[in-house]
Amino acid sequence: MATQRTFSIIKPDATKRNITGAINAIIEGAGLRIIAQKRIQLTQAQAEGFYAVHSERPFFGELVEFMISEPVVVQVLEGDDAVAKYREVMGATNPADADAGTIRKEHALSIGENSVHGSDSLENAEIEIKFFFNDDEIVG
Ligand code: CMP
Repeated sequence: MATQRTFSIIKPDATKRNITGAINAIIEGAGLRIIAQKRIQLTQAQAEGFYAVHSERPFFGELVEFMISEPVVVQVLEGDDAVAKYREVMGATNPADADAGTIRKEHALSIGENSVHGSDSLENAEIEIKFFFNDDEIVG
């Protein structure tokens, strides 16, 4: 399997509840390496830009408001088949549908406040990593 990098966000519902360490333990327990990480306060423009693909969705306003409501932790994860692996580790978007042991089953509150984001493809992972990290911030 190829080593890949994917992009992750630990969302405001999780930073607010002080469970970033618990989430990182699940990530690392699954064999993914956190090779870059920073806690930041998103601006409205950043949140709107990052989620631009969802701008026509009825929940877009709510999504942006939520993402700027508290700090987030943005991360680059590396490992075998990292994009698909992290989506497996996160669980379904709606925690009610997520498998036991996944981040969202264990920690998410609702489909909106679902604790984590992960890239849905290798192509989007590259775009999303570049959105938040310079090359010299990723140390492997
Ligand atoms: P994420 O993987 O970050 O990508 C888009 C986000 O939109 C998604 O996780 C959810 O948090 C959010 N989302 C998707 N569907 C809904 C919905 N019906 N209501 C509120 N938020 C949603």
